[in-house]
Amino acid sequence: MLASRMSRIASSPTLKGLLAADRLRSQGMDVVDLGAGEPDFPTPDHVKAAARTAIDGNFTKYTANSGITNLREAIAAKYAKDYGISFTPAEVIVTAGGKQALANAALAVFGPGDEVITHVPGWPTIVEQIKLADATPVIVRTSASDGFTLHAQPLIDAITPKTKGFIINSPANPTGALITEGELTTLAQAAKAKGLWIVLDLCYEQLIYEPEPANLPGVLFREMRERTIVCGSASKGYAMTGWRCGWTVGPKEVIAACGALQSHQTSNVCSITQKAVVAAITGPQDCVTAMRDEYRSRRDQVWTWLTADPRIKCVKPAGAFYLFIDITELLAATGIKTSAEFADKLIEESYVVTTAGEAFDAPGFLRISYANSLERLKEACNRLSAFVKKYEAVAAGR
Ligand SMILES: Cc1ncc(COP(=O)(O)O)c(C=O)c1O
Repeated sequence: MLASRMSRIASSPTLKGLLAADRLRSQGMDVVDLGAGEPDFPTPDHVKAAARTAIDGNFTKYTANSGITNLREAIAAKYAKDYGISFTPAEVIVTAGGKQALANAALAVFGPGDEVITHVPGWPTIVEQIKLADATPVIVRTSASDGFTLHAQPLIDAITPKTKGFIINSPANPTGALITEGELTTLAQAAKAKGLWIVLDLCYEQLIYEPEPANLPGVLFREMRERTIVCGSASKGYAMTGWRCGWTVGPKEVIAACGALQSHQTSNVCSITQKAVVAAITGPQDCVTAMRDEYRSRRDQVWTWLTADPRIKCVKPAGAFYLFIDITELLAATGIKTSAEFADKLIEESYVVTTAGEAFDAPGFLRISYANSLERLKEACNRLSAFVKKYEAVAAGR
């Protein structure tokens, strides 16, 4: 009945928890949702005000397909300020979130017969988008033992004559791990030598907690600008997930191709959203700093609470807003067979939503989003520990 491409892709597994949480809430249960991949903060006031002004000023019609000039200039100015790279408006397109930025980039440069190398544990959409482009994903696994750090050599070792490029996500979902400038330089030099693309997913770029050098776009522009595509988003840094705005930056031929795709699919991003994102990017950035500071202290606190049980293993992540915890010892102690089953039982019996590692191609782990208040995070940790004790007692036959 359906087209053959539908048998190659699966719908997003990270939305499963959302559905369960809605169901339980509608039954009156007190659900603690640590499944969400989105900020719990409201969109900053000056951003909302810009949207109201856009509506009141009747800025409610079609815009240029690739985005209003103001916004494309604002994105270019941001990258010049943050990373010292410069590009023209013809090298940037405004998209409906980072998701569309990445989807269009994949469709523009990857196709049948191509292999595209990416890393797991990772955000499942990247692999599915490679398949939607009729290309073949080649997976490189990062290791919990060094905090899921991305190293260049395993990525380079995965190159075959069919390789067309890499998709790199840093800070990464679900691990929060970064690729260093040095490792990316090594990868870029190898990619350049073979004429391969590097697509860089920077959607969590504003959520890096330690003062490490992280000028990844600078590295790629210096080493291989003509084969670099950078995808960004207003969603996470500005607490704007529902507004749907991201962008792709790359060679003008790629951006023109993304524009052609978008012109037949979604056209321009919502005109009101675009005005709001201009305000977000060009306005005061202290709201971003405040949110980042709050996430950092939650990360530290929740990490301390969780790892108080020495069977929970977790390297403190450098970015994003997730703790990706290894629960293999908890599975052994509770007799629960898989992390998927553990996450399901935790929702149904303790009303705590997490995302099982299976969603990120990493069984044995749970992703805990700390985009929630400390009070709710503490409640979730208490419920998790009571849940484990209950199952330990069952496993011990008590
Ligand atoms: C790694 C990663 N990239 C990109 C995105 C896209 O986000 P959005 O489409 O809201 O910009 C997400 C969202 O969860 C993500 O986790």
